[in-house]
Amino acid sequence: MPSLHKQPNLRLVDTASDQKRPSTKANEAMHPKVISEAAFTSKRLREAAYYSDETALVLHMDVREGLSLLAETGVEVNCVVTSPPFYGQRDYEVERQIGLEVHPSEFISNLSDVFDAAGAVLADNGSLWVNIGDTYWSGKGEHRSGEAKQSARRFGIRPQDKKGDGKWCVPKQLLLVPHRLAIELQDRGWLVRNDNVWVKPNPIPDQVRDRCSMSHEYVFHFVKERWYYFDKNAVGRTSEAGTVLPPLDTWEVPPVRGQAGRHRARFSEDLIRIPILTTTPPRGVVLDPFAGSGTSLVFARKHGFRAIGIDAKKAYCDIMVERLRRVVEEEEDDQE
Ligand SMILES: C[S@@+](CC[C@H](N)C(=O)[O-])C[C@H]1O[C@@H](n2cnc3c(N)ncnc32)[C@H](O)[C@@H]1O
Repeated sequence: MPSLHKQPNLRLVDTASDQKRPSTKANEAMHPKVISEAAFTSKRLREAAYYSDETALVLHMDVREGLSLLAETGVEVNCVVTSPPFYGQRDYEVERQIGLEVHPSEFISNLSDVFDAAGAVLADNGSLWVNIGDTYWSGKGEHRSGEAKQSARRFGIRPQDKKGDGKWCVPKQLLLVPHRLAIELQDRGWLVRNDNVWVKPNPIPDQVRDRCSMSHEYVFHFVKERWYYFDKNAVGRTSEAGTVLPPLDTWEVPPVRGQAGRHRARFSEDLIRIPILTTTPPRGVVLDPFAGSGTSLVFARKHGFRAIGIDAKKAYCDIMVERLRRVVEEEEDDQE
């Protein structure tokens, strides 16, 4: 398993030099180090990329392959933000896809390996943000509904529709996947800073009659070290006395309706606003290892950051490139 803590990258450039601050660990962590232009656009990366320019890199490959490539080419990122496949929710029809493992513990282990590999390319003062929702075990067997939307989600038989292990995997059980993942990452050395709750004001109604309807997901904030880069001024609340308070850990954000191209599980830009703006320094690099339609890359680019996206599905990489091109066109139109 790759180590979370790697040697400092020799190609880093220190962009902030505030001479007045005393040299403490906390102040050092606020000194953002960002990768050089040359390292971001190295020949090997450009040759392996599905799309690349000076500010964006799209890798069409398995997430583990993509993260190894970034590590081998000496890339270091400042913020990792992602929404991985949720357990048993969708068939993305890609080889080695994550999310349809027979047992949730296998899913948690695969996902934790991915985040450890992401940790190896994350700056020591960087942050990892993971949006993840939960799953109920059903044990009902294959669904019989002919409804088109259901059929799109409930491909054949989902892992949670099978018989189960008689322990966590029993009918009606909420699997607590988000917190099991967080505990596994904690056991592997990550620090959990928040289990931010994404509150959905207008959720798709659950077809249930013996429990509350689910209307939230989590956005966990993990760091590698005690001292890390965090700029609350970018998103904070102003107190009556005029001081800036950090944002709350409950975020009311409407889910995205409609589709970017054909991606059904797209992020809302509002959901990644706090993660990216608080933990990416100027000209820093944002990485989304399960980038899908590229919302993180688009948001990063709009705010002057560089971004890297990995996705195993070619159709999604096409959507990503198209969305990135549109941002550039809009920027050019604004300049005219
Ligand atoms: C929940 S979606 C991400 C959506 C994204 N946040 C957006 O705004 O569009 C998860 C993505 O993981 C990708 N994926 C699944 N298994 C993968 C793997 N082994 N390697 C790379 N990508 C994978 C899927 O193709 C899918 O696009």
